[in-house]
Amino acid sequence: MILAIETSCDDSCAAVLTSSGDVLSSVVGSQVIHDLYGGVVPEIAARHHLELLLPVVERALAEASIGLADLESVAVTQGPGLVGALLVGLATAKGLAAGLGIPLRAVDHLHGHVAASYLAGVPLEPPFLCLVASGGHTLIANVQEPGPNWSVVGTTIDDAAGEAFDKGARILGLGYPGGPLLEEQAKAGDPDAFDFPRAKGVAGADFSFAGLKTSLLYAVRDLGEADATARRADLAASYQAAIVDQLVERVTRAVDSTGVSVVAFGGGVAANSSARLGLTAAGIKLVVPPRKYCTDNAAMIGRASLEVQDLPHDAAFSLDAYSTATRAGR
Ligand code: KG4
Ligand code: ZN
Repeated sequence: MILAIETSCDDSCAAVLTSSGDVLSSVVGSQVIHDLYGGVVPEIAARHHLELLLPVVERALAEASIGLADLESVAVTQGPGLVGALLVGLATAKGLAAGLGIPLRAVDHLHGHVAASYLAGVPLEPPFLCLVASGGHTLIANVQEPGPNWSVVGTTIDDAAGEAFDKGARILGLGYPGGPLLEEQAKAGDPDAFDFPRAKGVAGADFSFAGLKTSLLYAVRDLGEADATARRADLAASYQAAIVDQLVERVTRAVDSTGVSVVAFGGGVAANSSARLGLTAAGIKLVVPPRKYCTDNAAMIGRASLEVQDLPHDAAFSLDAYSTATRAGR
């Protein structure tokens, strides 16, 4: 039995998995407070983890019908993420592992998003590509072996895809987190109403979303407040289509350049129906986990921990958080 803990951003998450990777429980305590500020406030996120994490761990154990004494290892997200938030998870995991006398495993958050693909309910093993599109990262990993040692085929040169959704939603006055709200708004709109840029000048499998965000800003400004509000669904649908088209084009290029045809899809943006449909319609052999394993969760951290080693005793005690991606860049 593995207890997994994830606190890299604003969700306090715990999960219990068997050593063969079956998920017995996965609990996500979301911090709704951040929508008041239009984004995640790091200090508030850390303080809420302090309050939420232990009850979330208790619920994960209860839902799995086990007690602390049944645990055989603890897995925890080490980074990248908000350091104050990560430290709450790390301290909790270290305390539990030391108190119970069981091993600790440190997991990279992006490795978690890749490993979530194994929870899709279909047989999957390397080699495969994985499009990770979240609020903090957007990259295409070429996974040739189990574990976090993938090569990066393409990565964003500015914003992440989830960030593009969030910023677009803010420009359209939709609130936070923007992805699901913009997706909902887009359902009533025409994706061809506005012609937003698809980063044509960016070669290969790299992404760029900063120009897209700026063109939405200009479109809204040019329309004026009343028209922009009246045409909000069209703006949302066209903006979403530009993001999805770019994801589809880069994944297609990555498949062509690597010859790897199976593509897993992880991170919060993988919860987006239009992105799933777009990739499938382009003929991509897509593997996508259920939505609850696309957005941040601890089950993916537990699943990833099957591919990393136990930390030696001393290293477990001195384990520190890291804030920036070690593998996402080049
Ligand atoms: O993976 P995740 O939960 O956290 C990070 O690691 O960043 O991803 C969160 C991101 C946010 O930017 C959110 O707006 C986006 O994923 N997201 C979506 C959807 N659900 C979440 N974007 C588009 N459509 C969605 N349905
Ligand atoms: Zn994430």
